[in-house]
Amino acid sequence: MPRQPQQTSVAPAVPVAQNPLAGLRVEGVDPAPVLADDERGVWLYRGNSLAALDAIAERYPDGNFDMIFADPPYFLSNGGITCHAGRMVKVDKGGWDKSRGPELNHEFNTEWLKRCQRVLRPNGTIWVTGTSHVIFSVGYAMQQLGFKILNDIAWEKPNPPPNLSCRYFTHSTETVLWAAKNEASKHFFNYDLMRQKNGGKQMKTVWRIFSPLRAEKALGKHPTQKPLALLELCLLAASRVGDLILDPFMGAGTTGVASVMNRRRFVGIELDEEHAKLAAARIRSYQVSLDLFVVSDAKRGETDMRIQSNSLREWLLDNKYNDVAELIDEVAAEWAADGKKTRRNWWDILAGDNKGMPRIVDGRKFPVLRAARIRKGLSATKSCLCRNPHEVVPPAVEQQRWMKRAR
Ligand SMILES: C[S@@+](CC[C@H](N)C(=O)[O-])C[C@H]1O[C@@H](n2cnc3c(N)ncnc32)[C@H](O)[C@@H]1O
Repeated sequence: MPRQPQQTSVAPAVPVAQNPLAGLRVEGVDPAPVLADDERGVWLYRGNSLAALDAIAERYPDGNFDMIFADPPYFLSNGGITCHAGRMVKVDKGGWDKSRGPELNHEFNTEWLKRCQRVLRPNGTIWVTGTSHVIFSVGYAMQQLGFKILNDIAWEKPNPPPNLSCRYFTHSTETVLWAAKNEASKHFFNYDLMRQKNGGKQMKTVWRIFSPLRAEKALGKHPTQKPLALLELCLLAASRVGDLILDPFMGAGTTGVASVMNRRRFVGIELDEEHAKLAAARIRSYQVSLDLFVVSDAKRGETDMRIQSNSLREWLLDNKYNDVAELIDEVAAEWAADGKKTRRNWWDILAGDNKGMPRIVDGRKFPVLRAARIRKGLSATKSCLCRNPHEVVPPAVEQQRWMKRAR
């Protein structure tokens, strides 16, 4: 079923926030944050999240976070093999990911979940990702601790690495558990937005999302980085603008990036110094690019900031694509399945019609890109989408085959 493009959104300002670890001395946690942005409400710490959460729970006995996203160690770096970039490699994500046996792994899961439950606000919710190596223990610990499990999402990866042994199905899903603090919680679910994002139908518990794009790893690599699209969906489903989000296993800071992009406040804790620095660099860089899309509403004399409505990023977000190429791939794959030719000049489609209106291909409305219009020598219309207001478009490089055609 084709996904129909949605309207872009305008985000209100983020309220003033407080750093929950400010002034606290916690053993195992560096006293100085790796990144502290009081204005936006972003605080990253290097250290052990269990110790940090104990300190936060003591300071806020009634809970402090509206939503938690936890991507804990999966305990799968145990000498197995996998396929990476076409090569056979050992599964070794790092010492933190080694299994210590089912009992100790379960004890660890129970300990960090217990702390997360304490620091959640009464109506707050938690998301936890995992494969079979960890997710059954997480689910059992949640039941033991009295969380209320709301959904188990199957995150389907359309491009999984092949199974080299040919003795199993290709692993292509992870589970994402969504749970409320306890049975009494009145959790928040952005039902309307989720339905809107799903073309007007109730969203199901199977989410098809690509692994992180290359651009998401531009500043450095983390072995188990999650896609930004996954985090944005969780955040938009279960939190509001200005909410305070926690990630106790921050890694490369994907939850922080999604929070900043969607005007939530964020606290991240990460054991490894290099990962924590990478998270800080990513969040800073997204803040810079976000600023390109943000304009102050000077006409109304207001100081709040609004997201520029004709940004390509907003369109991608609203339409659940990581990239416009995914939309093209979707249509081309259907044509290929029907035995139709798939070659086509997509720039023509993306340039829109002469008036700059979107073109519709097999029931799907394609966005009009400013880059495509400029590339085709057409004037940029008001509603065409751009990566940033100062987007520079490289000229089309002449191809040999065009010359042949001209002869
Ligand atoms: C699965 S990765 C998270 C990846 C992250 N979601 C992302 O998108 O980049 C888990 C991370 O937890 C960190 N970690 C493990 N034990 C920790 C602990 N006790 N406290 C804080 N961080 C921890 C590891 O160093 C690792 O970077």
